[in-house]
Amino acid sequence: MNALDQSDNSNPPSPNRRRRPRYSGTHPKNYQQKYKEHNIISHPELRDHLRAKGKTPVSTHIPVLTEEILSYLMPGPGEVVVDCTVGYGGHASEFMKRIGPAGKLIAFDVDNTELERTRHRLSKENVPVSFYRSNFAGIANVLNKEKIDGYDIIFADIGVSSMQIDNPNRGMSYKHDGPLDMRMDDRLKRTGADLLNTLSEEQLSKAFWELADEPDHQEITHLIVTQRAVHPITRTLQLVQLIFSAKGLILKRWQQQRTSKSSSLHPAARTFQALRILVNDELGSLGELLRVAPYCLRPGGRIGIISFHSGEDRLIKQSFRDGVRNGIYRLVAQNAIVPQIKEIVSNPRSASAKFRWAVKPL
Ligand SMILES: C[S@@+](CC[C@H](N)C(=O)[O-])C[C@H]1O[C@@H](n2cnc3c(N)ncnc32)[C@H](O)[C@@H]1O
Repeated sequence: MNALDQSDNSNPPSPNRRRRPRYSGTHPKNYQQKYKEHNIISHPELRDHLRAKGKTPVSTHIPVLTEEILSYLMPGPGEVVVDCTVGYGGHASEFMKRIGPAGKLIAFDVDNTELERTRHRLSKENVPVSFYRSNFAGIANVLNKEKIDGYDIIFADIGVSSMQIDNPNRGMSYKHDGPLDMRMDDRLKRTGADLLNTLSEEQLSKAFWELADEPDHQEITHLIVTQRAVHPITRTLQLVQLIFSAKGLILKRWQQQRTSKSSSLHPAARTFQALRILVNDELGSLGELLRVAPYCLRPGGRIGIISFHSGEDRLIKQSFRDGVRNGIYRLVAQNAIVPQIKEIVSNPRSASAKFRWAVKPL
């Protein structure tokens, strides 16, 4: 194994030895109390129980569209695969099983917390793997370091992982109170709170509309600007309350009226998504990946990308179609591949996934 960040990966990451908080009762509700889910390997019965209910244990991520990805990208023995978004390593470990010891996996992720855990888990496999704590926009830069002429497969599963959403300290979820951070990469300078408290009303409004089609973008940004003049907005639930007020809703009443079967989007979902995309410049990174990918693929190489956002899917579709027109790609998915009902029932987080692929000429 080798790694750009040169960190020693021979030992497991040392856990922070803090006393776990006690709670009364048998049904832990908040993130801290779910200590069994944090150590799910030791509690397989709990994992099975949660999975049967369509839930994801807080310390894990369920890979989506796995069968479809393997059947279209066809990883084979000895191939070089770059997983641009290794996350929990679910897709990566499936690739590793197919490329075997003669192959090589190159794993990117900007999130150091998860990368360390995944490095530890995947290092047990008998397949050479290199980890880069780096933005996938840089996949071309590591070819020389790896002494390879290109990748057989470029794969990306863009967006956030379940571990990132479920951890209130990451500030990505409107369901839990936490600091409004939203950075996947903690080396980034500006958090969600920084952007919310410094961008102009026009900039925020444009982002909420263009990145997430939030219909009440003007009302929400007007309230943000009025409120931040009195108190900076620093917590997720502060922003949630504000969005509800801008929409003329009352949080408590909305929670009571919402049934467990209700599939309507949470009123804060669009604003949170837009702010997260902005903080992490997700469209900028995707654009750069799409630009460099064809030059990093070997002849006959395949690229596959999963996205969860219509704007991202549009970019991917356009880039692949332009690629065919320009002769950069030979074949592309005609339509986005989406999860079957069975997968959505067992993993509701897969519901908005869209997968597209393209093949480089021989
Ligand atoms: C949906 S998760 C991937 C899950 C993974 N496929 C699995 O099976 O566990 C997306 C991951 O991509 C990472 N990520 C998002 N944008 C990135 C970027 N521009 N460069 C590198 N990693 C990125 C996130 O930190 C997150 O861990």
